[in-house]
Amino acid sequence: MNDAPRQAAAPARPLFTLLDVEKRFLLDGGRRELRALDGIRLTLGAGESLALVGESGSGKSTLVRVMLGLEPASNGRVLFGSGAPGGSTREERRRFAREVAYIYQDARGSLDPRMSVAELLAEPIRLHALRAAAEIPGRVDELIARVGLPADMRGKVPAELSGGQVRRVAVARALAGEPRVVVADESVAGLDVSVQAQLLNLLRDLQREQGLAMVFVTHDLGVAAYLCERVAVMYLGRIVEMGPTHEVLAQPLHPYTRGLMQAFPRFDAPLTVSLAGEIPSAAALPAGCRFRSRCERAQPDCADTDPVQRRLTSNRQVACLHPLEN
Ligand SMILES: Nc1ncnc2c1ncn2[C@@H]1O[C@H](COP(=O)(O)OP(=O)(O)O)[C@@H](O)[C@H]1O
Ligand code: SF4
Ligand SMILES: [Mg+2]
Repeated sequence: MNDAPRQAAAPARPLFTLLDVEKRFLLDGGRRELRALDGIRLTLGAGESLALVGESGSGKSTLVRVMLGLEPASNGRVLFGSGAPGGSTREERRRFAREVAYIYQDARGSLDPRMSVAELLAEPIRLHALRAAAEIPGRVDELIARVGLPADMRGKVPAELSGGQVRRVAVARALAGEPRVVVADESVAGLDVSVQAQLLNLLRDLQREQGLAMVFVTHDLGVAAYLCERVAVMYLGRIVEMGPTHEVLAQPLHPYTRGLMQAFPRFDAPLTVSLAGEIPSAAALPAGCRFRSRCERAQPDCADTDPVQRRLTSNRQVACLHPLEN
């Protein structure tokens, strides 16, 4: 057991590497193009936790889907270790599915409604042959207890569970495969604040106890700060700022990050109300900086030059021509 994964030295090869990844969707029978991801550069090392933060439509779920090989990138490269995510042989695909657990945005929709909690948890254990048949019920009980569900949940089907309980089952199912990486998309959104806090504590403990790497998608900077050592702030398909969470929140470099912090300073305040100014459509991005229509710092060159994600210090990256003072 590794109880201090946050202090672990960076491994030689990251688990995931994304190199200038683009994802375009064709609209209107191919007459228009929507840029859901644009120039994404990202790595995730073993045991690292990364929050993807941004308003609805900024490309968070698309980034996760491309990273997991569920959708192909339109351009650029996505690597898991040195190979493709998802793997290319049957054996590699099976290994990837076990090592990288994905908790879907729609946790309820991702669970077979006819299966009991016990069956939902036994399935990945059996599929990946992680326990002898006789040991599976004991392991299922262990998982149920680990995510803080009462033992009498075993026989229940998803329709009989509350929203919070469904998310716990989704977390338990993710853990059942004994993964190295957990990717969770908006896993606490829409829950009561107290239930959110319980689930966040659970995820944080799991990450610390088991040294799991985690990608946590959230529209909530407070959640990101609580759970993840690193944060990537997304705006219209681009990572506009990335760095250690406490540094980014203490001293944001991108005007958008600062705007988010000023607009939504509270832990439980969701990013449903937008900042001042109009958001362009991802299907009709303006020339120059995509944040220009909402930026207080915009200058004439921001209308011509599209700022790409660049490294400003050893651990801070920003996509802005005139970053805030560091
Ligand atoms: N399959 C798709 N076809 C067309 N557009 C899509 C598709 N999936 C996502 N998009 C668009 O891509 C952008 C990013 O979406 P998404 O990744 O779901 O954002 P987020 O998870 O941050 O809310 C949005 O403009 C969305 O409408
Ligand atoms: S590049 Fe210009 S418009 Fe864009 S965020 Fe920076 S200052 Fe604002
Ligand atoms: Mg999403």
